[in-house]
Amino acid sequence: MNTQRKTMIVGNWKEHLNVSQSSLLIHRLHERIKTHRSVEVVLAPTMLALQPLSVQIDRRKFRLAAQNAYHIDEGAFTGEVSFSMLQDLVHYGIIGHSDRRNKFNENLDEVCSKVAAAVRNNIMPILCVGESQTEKLAGETNRVIHDQVVTALANVTAKEVQSMVIAYEPVWALSSGTDFMHHATPKPDEILSAINIIRHNVKELYGVSAASSIRVLYGGSVNASSAYDLLNIKGLDGLLVGGASLNYHEFSGIVDAAFRKQQEEA
Ligand code: PGA
Repeated sequence: MNTQRKTMIVGNWKEHLNVSQSSLLIHRLHERIKTHRSVEVVLAPTMLALQPLSVQIDRRKFRLAAQNAYHIDEGAFTGEVSFSMLQDLVHYGIIGHSDRRNKFNENLDEVCSKVAAAVRNNIMPILCVGESQTEKLAGETNRVIHDQVVTALANVTAKEVQSMVIAYEPVWALSSGTDFMHHATPKPDEILSAINIIRHNVKELYGVSAASSIRVLYGGSVNASSAYDLLNIKGLDGLLVGGASLNYHEFSGIVDAAFRKQQEEA
């Protein structure tokens, strides 16, 4: 991990937990997680819970992220919520998650528009990229990462890119929500290679400073037992956690691993 870039642990709750269940989980996490200046803990609950949780959370401990939003700020788009409406509620927006790309057919252009919309509304994108099983077997991992990074960042400036977060999430490594202890995950050198490709692509587009400022996370079946070793991977700045973030023992264990790592490096 790089001391310039703050370590980040993100919990993506996906379509789990209603408002009161979300509030209860935050309460439990609040009891277990200490305030760590060196570790940023970000939670992405259901959209419905963002408003009440924004009042409930201790902002020294937690930040909120939207799991999704629409790229046009305002208009006749029945059912949509825009990044501009989320401005006061969240610091981050998860964009390009494979659930959105694959289950809701979000294409590269839409991801690009969402990145620009988030940035325009002072919400930092957490851009997810990563190859499917088929693409991996066909040896296309580098090309997929390249295409997803380059198209997503097309409408932002080098300065805006600097504060962005990119999560490498190989689709084949994502858990179903409950099998995160046993799921296949990439080898450390595969994650290292993806991190380097992401930074290389950002460098080609926006220069060395942007490439070394962005934070790169890994996501895919992360749990409390795997977190510490993952955080040892060179250039990795944190973890994006799905299934294990719904379990407060697991998630606080992951945050503890990040904190331990930071303390050792301090
Ligand atoms: P997982 O999900 O940790 O359950 O694999 C990660 C994600 O989808 O962001």
